[in-house]
Amino acid sequence: MTAAIEIREIVKTFGGATALDRCSLTITAGCVTGIIGPNGAGKTTLLDVLCGLVPPDSGQVLFRGVPITGLPPHAVAARGIVRTFQIVRDLAGLTVLETLLLAPGDQIGETILGALFRRGAVEAQERTRAVRARALLDRIGLWRLADAPAASLSGGQRKLLDLARALMLDPAVLCLDEPAAGVSPPLLDEIIGLIRDLRAAGLTLIIVEHDMHLVREVCDHVHVLAQGRPLVSGTFAEVTADPRVVEAYLGLAA
Ligand SMILES: Nc1ncnc2c1ncn2[C@@H]1O[C@H](COP(=O)(O)OP(=O)(O)OP(=O)(O)O)[C@@H](O)[C@H]1O
Ligand SMILES: [Mg+2]
Repeated sequence: MTAAIEIREIVKTFGGATALDRCSLTITAGCVTGIIGPNGAGKTTLLDVLCGLVPPDSGQVLFRGVPITGLPPHAVAARGIVRTFQIVRDLAGLTVLETLLLAPGDQIGETILGALFRRGAVEAQERTRAVRARALLDRIGLWRLADAPAASLSGGQRKLLDLARALMLDPAVLCLDEPAAGVSPPLLDEIIGLIRDLRAAGLTLIIVEHDMHLVREVCDHVHVLAQGRPLVSGTFAEVTADPRVVEAYLGLAA
């Protein structure tokens, strides 16, 4: 089992609140790792640190053995770690298809010189992107809505579109923040099928999720976070049978 990502002793505080408390865990390459835990446990903050959105106070993130701590999000994405969001952001008036075509990435045509002197390459790349976007929209059942405003999509469809946007970047590691939240049962099956296919294609996936059906169906390994650090790790069956996990959830509800 090869480690894709090692998170070492990460501390992140917001004002007086500790979101991550010397958090250490390993993400195995080619596996689906679930991160579960009560509200406020630090799950989203962990993804934020991993993807460069939030600098940690201390600690290290290693990707394939190389430190990436403190790199900005675009640099982390360029190395192959891409994420989706718990709440899908403002869709900026774009259509469904445009949302995918304009997903930031390694676009040759981005600089003026590139646009002037490498027109052939730019056009070839744009065709490739268009083919990829169409294939993704087909796969997630949104092709017939390609020209609809992205903002007109349902919550679940937005989640799928955000996932497709992340896949346009051709990631090695895909981090999903609550992919099942607000998703209807048929769309949830779609997402579960997609995650399985991505795993079969060799992707490493990290899934932060409250929906235990999804976690049980797709995760090879689960870390339970509580108060900013892993409490229990193991298979879904192992962690859900652990009394400390039940207590962590109930403790919060009390
Ligand atoms: N930008 C921020 N400013 C201040 N406090 C924050 C910020 N982001 C997170 N926190 C705090 O850090 C802690 C962990 O938050 P985080 O969003 O990572 O939890 P979570 O496990 O994702 O929770 P949920 O399951 O509700 O999404 C919480 O106490 C939260 O209030
Ligand atoms: Mg969260």
